[in-house]
Amino acid sequence: DKDYLMLAIETSCDETSVAIVRGGREVLANVVSSQIETHRRFGGVVPEIASRKHVESITLILEEAFAKAGVGRGDIDAVAVTQGPGLIGALLVGVVAAKTLAMALDVPLIGTHHIAGHIYANRLIGEIVYPALALVVSGGHTELVLLEREGVFRIVGRTRDDAVGEAYDKVARALSFPYPGGPYVDKLAQASEEEVELPRAWLEPDSYDFSFSGLKSAVLAEINRAKMKGEELAQGALAKGFQASVIDVVTTKAMRAAQAFGVRQMLLCGGVAANLGLRERLTALCADAGLPLLIPPPSLCSDNAAMIAAAADLKWRRRAFTPLDMVAWPQLSL
Ligand code: KG4
Ligand code: ZN
Repeated sequence: DKDYLMLAIETSCDETSVAIVRGGREVLANVVSSQIETHRRFGGVVPEIASRKHVESITLILEEAFAKAGVGRGDIDAVAVTQGPGLIGALLVGVVAAKTLAMALDVPLIGTHHIAGHIYANRLIGEIVYPALALVVSGGHTELVLLEREGVFRIVGRTRDDAVGEAYDKVARALSFPYPGGPYVDKLAQASEEEVELPRAWLEPDSYDFSFSGLKSAVLAEINRAKMKGEELAQGALAKGFQASVIDVVTTKAMRAAQAFGVRQMLLCGGVAANLGLRERLTALCADAGLPLLIPPPSLCSDNAAMIAAAADLKWRRRAFTPLDMVAWPQLSL
């Protein structure tokens, strides 16, 4: 049983991904096919196009995962899939594929929450110690999630407007970088010596919530001001100021929450966890506080199916299977 093989599918947004994982930990294949090139000219993900692309790719990606893992269909013991949250049409493609496979192979189906996947991506690199606090930073989510024990999530803080990744992408767009621009802003910020001083949204003193729209507006205002005056825009300094504000706020709130809830471990996850500045700052702060920290490698931070298998493995162990009449659920709560 501990060597069982799970096939996992993730199609909640613009990545078609299939993973095959042994024993909930050993990743034999984690194929990710990104649609970014297709969506780039629209400056963001177009839901209808995303659904169609998933339909086109899912069979090929399944084949590729089997080939890469070197296993056959008959070897699969369970099928996991992202049930939500995400784009309905995109989720549907993965859910239908997963149900079909589970039925055809006569193995259990396990529906999984996308954010539980991001959080439990950390199970692929280490042991989770409870209670733990997860700082979830992605294109669609920015949350502080308290894990009192395995599988029990409590959202103690969340963004009131833009997600961190969303703010990065909007700032990048204003600086004329292609979608998704997070990594470009990250590089620009790292390369700059200068830094434009930008505001930090701390909100109420005891709040673990976030707000990034004010910061984003401050950056856009600065860009417009330079344009109007015909000045050359200090892109690097602006990116550095933006990144400094984001990192300052998210890490400070995460550390404060970690202390308030007496957690024994910090987990960083989500696409923005690939950000080098963020990884470094949180690593330093946790080291100072003597708090163990897990951060997945960048390939497991952005959307992928191996993280879905890592979360589904906990349900597999409890035999918490999902009925085949399960439906994709865009607003699924954690
Ligand atoms: O988790 P993810 O792959 O998709 C969602 O579930 O949202 O996150 C994608 C987000 C995008 O907004 C992208 O710009 C951002 O993560 N991102 C970064 C970096 N790499 C990816 N943001 C800042 N710095 C990075 N290095
Ligand atoms: Zn995600």
